[in-house]
Amino acid sequence: MMKLTLWKFGFLLFLSSLCAYYLYCKTYADNIYRRHYSKAVEVQHKEDVERIVLSFVVCDSRYNESLNVVKSVLIFTKTPVYFVIFTDENLKPKFNDTLNKWRSLTNNQLDFELQKINFPEAHEEDWMNLFSKCAAQRLFIPKLIPHIDSMIYVDTDTLFLGPVNELWSYFSRFNSSQISAVALEDDNPNVSWYPRFAKHPFYGKYGINSGVMLMNLTRMRTFGWVDYVTPIMLKWKLYIPWGDQDIINIIFHYHERAVYVLPCRYNYRSDQCMYGDACAEATTRGIFLLHGSRKAFHNHKQPAFEAIYRAINEYNIGIDSTETLLNKMEKYFTEAPASNCGNLKNAFFRLPIKTINDLYGKPNR
Ligand SMILES: *[C@@H]1O[C@H](CO)[C@@H](O)[C@H](O)[C@H]1NC(C)=O
Ligand SMILES: *[C@@H]1O[C@H](CO)[C@@H](O)[C@H](O)[C@H]1NC(C)=O
Ligand SMILES: *[C@@H]1O[C@H](CO)[C@@H](O)[C@H](O)[C@H]1NC(C)=O
Ligand SMILES: *[C@@H]1O[C@H](CO)[C@@H](O)[C@H](O)[C@H]1NC(C)=O
Ligand SMILES: *[C@@H]1O[C@H](CO)[C@@H](O)[C@H](O)[C@H]1NC(C)=O
Repeated sequence: MMKLTLWKFGFLLFLSSLCAYYLYCKTYADNIYRRHYSKAVEVQHKEDVERIVLSFVVCDSRYNESLNVVKSVLIFTKTPVYFVIFTDENLKPKFNDTLNKWRSLTNNQLDFELQKINFPEAHEEDWMNLFSKCAAQRLFIPKLIPHIDSMIYVDTDTLFLGPVNELWSYFSRFNSSQISAVALEDDNPNVSWYPRFAKHPFYGKYGINSGVMLMNLTRMRTFGWVDYVTPIMLKWKLYIPWGDQDIINIIFHYHERAVYVLPCRYNYRSDQCMYGDACAEATTRGIFLLHGSRKAFHNHKQPAFEAIYRAINEYNIGIDSTETLLNKMEKYFTEAPASNCGNLKNAFFRLPIKTINDLYGKPNR
């Protein structure tokens, strides 16, 4: 009897020390896990609040168009976005009024600063008249806003169809020599402009299109970007029909290692669809950013582009529902005259529909 109890007692002791050991190990493991996990959460949080900076340059007639860039950004993301806008003195009050209004309508989703147009005094005339008025401003941006680390530059004739965060995440893919990300002008030797017509050096085999440009300004300042710009302009000014884009091509011709090449869906122009499908990635994953270069949003030659532009132009920030927007996009697109670009309806709608479903839930339609 006594023996048995002792034996039982010993067994219980053994069991409980086993339990204690197990609990100890588990707590230890949990702690390690938690420490790592919370670190991950912290990092994630930091990334979440990292500020997305988007910038463009506007003089005179492009004001309306540029507001639609802002709208398209805000529609397809819930992340706060900081806009740095370089513009004429006479447009500043208009931007200030509209953007302040939109800031309160979107519960502070956007913030902004307005910068004046500012070219070096020497050669100011040359700069102002290169390509279109003030377009060349962006070449000087690294020096003009030393308080900004990085930004996405877009032409005013662009529209986001997906979340700007996705494009911003490409900064983290840069290797140590890359300072900027841009898409190619095209990659079809039969129609490519640069290899057939350019009288100046350009990036790679086909040249780049500068309508969408991720700029790590910190790295561009270290690189000495702005020092390259004026000598190149003076040397080539008679041979560069696309102005600032050609200057960027010349710089990158000599510094290929500085370039991260973006997929074509991040800078989708009518060239990519008017002769047939020339951007497979847009067909499978959706157009991320529509670029109405050569007035494709306005000149009645690309009805598919114009349909998307019109729907976003009519969208009232903070008032209209995103469902209304999608319905209008589909209506205008379907009603538009047939075109090669219009045949790729899926490429145009895949991402807006998915993004709006992800952000706002699936509407009943
Ligand atoms: C810009 O938009 C306003 C208001 O919608 C309109 O009255 C004006 O004609 C537009 N301007 C241009 C150049 O399209
Ligand atoms: C911009 O608008 C805000 C509020 O509407 C006003 O307080 C501010 O003075 C304006 N700033 C400029 C530079 O016009
Ligand atoms: C830009 O480059 C600097 C210097 O390499 C780096 O510290 C910074 O994190 C980069 N910015 C982004 C958004 O990747
Ligand atoms: C370019 O043109 C040639 C000859 O017409 C054709 O065989 C080839 O498929 C074309 N290449 C592309 C990428 O369109
Ligand atoms: C970064 O990537 C570019 C493009 O692939 C390449 O040319 C360059 O050598 C790379 N730089 C480094 C430091 O690996």
